[in-house]
Amino acid sequence: MLQLNKLFTLNTLLLVPLITRLCACDPTATWNSPLPTLAPIQHINTSVLSIGYYDSSPHDTIAPVAILIHGFPYSIHTYVDVVPKLTHRGYRVIVPAMRGYSPTSFLSPTTPRSAEQAALGKDIIDLMDALEIKKAIFAGYDWGTVAVNVAAALWPDRCLGMVAANSYLIQNRETAWAIAPPASLSERWYFYVFLTPQGYSSLANDTKGWAEILWSKNSPNWQFTQPQLDAAALAFRNPDYVDIATNFYRNRLLYAPGDPMYAQLAEQLDMQPTISVPAVTLDPNQAPVFPAMNGSAAAAHFSGPRIHHIVEGCGENIPLQKPQIFADAVLEVAQLA
Ligand SMILES: *[C@@H]1O[C@H](CO)[C@@H](O)[C@H](O)[C@H]1NC(C)=O
Ligand SMILES: *[C@@H]1O[C@H](CO)[C@@H](O)[C@H](O)[C@H]1NC(C)=O
Ligand SMILES: *[C@@H]1O[C@H](CO)[C@@H](O)[C@H](O)[C@H]1NC(C)=O
Repeated sequence: MLQLNKLFTLNTLLLVPLITRLCACDPTATWNSPLPTLAPIQHINTSVLSIGYYDSSPHDTIAPVAILIHGFPYSIHTYVDVVPKLTHRGYRVIVPAMRGYSPTSFLSPTTPRSAEQAALGKDIIDLMDALEIKKAIFAGYDWGTVAVNVAAALWPDRCLGMVAANSYLIQNRETAWAIAPPASLSERWYFYVFLTPQGYSSLANDTKGWAEILWSKNSPNWQFTQPQLDAAALAFRNPDYVDIATNFYRNRLLYAPGDPMYAQLAEQLDMQPTISVPAVTLDPNQAPVFPAMNGSAAAAHFSGPRIHHIVEGCGENIPLQKPQIFADAVLEVAQLA
């Protein structure tokens, strides 16, 4: 770790003075036509966030709960077609906006804008505590997989079952710089662009342009629509979006230290804790950042019942592109529980 500490210092010197709070947001802008969005939105405070979330039945304390977590650069509206399929089957469905994405905001200007894996997972548990929900099914893709993996692994008593695209993305920081083949790095180039001040300012200048590029690149055969992109872009109008988006990659690649508040959880996560709750894992076969596999490589991370599916004809945003398959996975994991 000595070498890593040196790099933290180097990057503190290189990056921090250049990182300013740029934001191309115009929070007052409105749209004329209805967008495919989840509404209405509720708000609740945790110790660090005011979480904006959709809740299909806020007063139902009996229905089974499913908590659905979005990825980057997406939003809660990813789940617009999944929610009715689950409510129809008796679920209370809760879809929170992650830290950095509207309508979620930080309560304090001094809280570090960390997107480290421990924080993303803890935010789910904090939300459940605030809503007085004891147990739920967690489901996610992309960053949402990191969040649901962490919450399921560290708080199994709060999780009835987990649905996760790409199975297991909890990272051991010791392997953050492990050698990777060129074909893999060439699909992940943006992780590295976001380490630089130029990547930061480019994202700040054109959040929607970046989303359009990454949606196309990471799901090359998906014909997404302009209203779907416009709906997601509502989430990027957040003063912390660019800090959080870039911090996710900077933290994972050891270019930004974590928030000391999560240090103990971060160390537990370096051990890559096993997921013991029932799991359904999904690998889309048209998502080049994480090529689809048969699930065996991740098997050692799961100690409970697990079913793995390859999702044919689908890119990285399974819930928006194949909502029935994503909803079916939630129903399937409930059967395993
Ligand atoms: C959340 O916290 C903020 C800041 O402390 C406060 O202004 C607001 O009233 C709180 N909201 C709720 C719903 O408690
Ligand atoms: C900033 O983004 C706008 C689109 O929102 C684009 O027209 C412009 O060229 C961008 N500027 C730079 C320097 O990238
Ligand atoms: C799954 O894929 C791995 C390579 O990642 C291979 O070694 C293994 O034989 C495959 N298992 C099955 C059951 O196809």
